[in-house]
Amino acid sequence: MAPRNIVLAFDLYGTLLSTSSISTTLSSSLSVPSEKGDAIASRWRILQLEYSWRMTCMGKYVSFRDLTRASLLHSLSEEGVLSPSDETVDRLMGCYDGLPAFPDATKGLQVLAAEKAKSLGHRGGSLKAVVFSNGVETTVRDALVKADLEGSSGTGKLFDGVVSAQPTEAFKPSSKVYQHLVDSVGSSGKDGEVWLVSSNPFDVTGALGCGVPGLKAVWVDRAGTGWIDKLGSVIGVEKPTLVVGGVDEAVKQILDDNS
Ligand code: 2OP
Repeated sequence: MAPRNIVLAFDLYGTLLSTSSISTTLSSSLSVPSEKGDAIASRWRILQLEYSWRMTCMGKYVSFRDLTRASLLHSLSEEGVLSPSDETVDRLMGCYDGLPAFPDATKGLQVLAAEKAKSLGHRGGSLKAVVFSNGVETTVRDALVKADLEGSSGTGKLFDGVVSAQPTEAFKPSSKVYQHLVDSVGSSGKDGEVWLVSSNPFDVTGALGCGVPGLKAVWVDRAGTGWIDKLGSVIGVEKPTLVVGGVDEAVKQILDDNS
């Protein structure tokens, strides 16, 4: 079998890190029932992404962190919280800095760390892992340390780097961002394979539809709905290369595929 140079590029928010803890902080900070905390949290996430898409369409850029703050204020306003104190907003923004890892992500990264230690080098190839996010690199690095995904645990020194969308001044799913990923990890697509691992359907369709050779995309389907995103079908883009139940399964299947 020909040597394989494999890069696994993990999306951060919603894939490695769970945003569900945010609703608990929202309900306690705003003294609202948990259902309202859930509603604000999910609206916040939708608006955060909507803002990123609008900015990319408009050809304008501010950091993902600034968009996260603006979309938080928008979601609070919709729920009638019109003038939150700076302290409340800072506390809620702090949620994004301390998100916990999904257990399946921690497990999958530990398997990957063990495989990297052995390396695919004995088969003449290489194995790299990066975090690939809209987030600013320093924010992403801090979040990984807080979630114990890059530090003291068994996954320490796992990642070979963080690829932030920031240098492109665009957000996912702009094709510029996926091209930047492939350029950053030094894989031309001819002699290497870059696997995006993401739970966000727009990210998966973006990667498959951007026309960058060698880019494959695994969709992490924790809810078990199967692939129901229909945008790819109207633009002739293939379904995800793999659909899996968790990051651990993604790592296993990618490595098996290349063993
Ligand atoms: C990210 O980490 C979109 O949440 C996604 O880039």
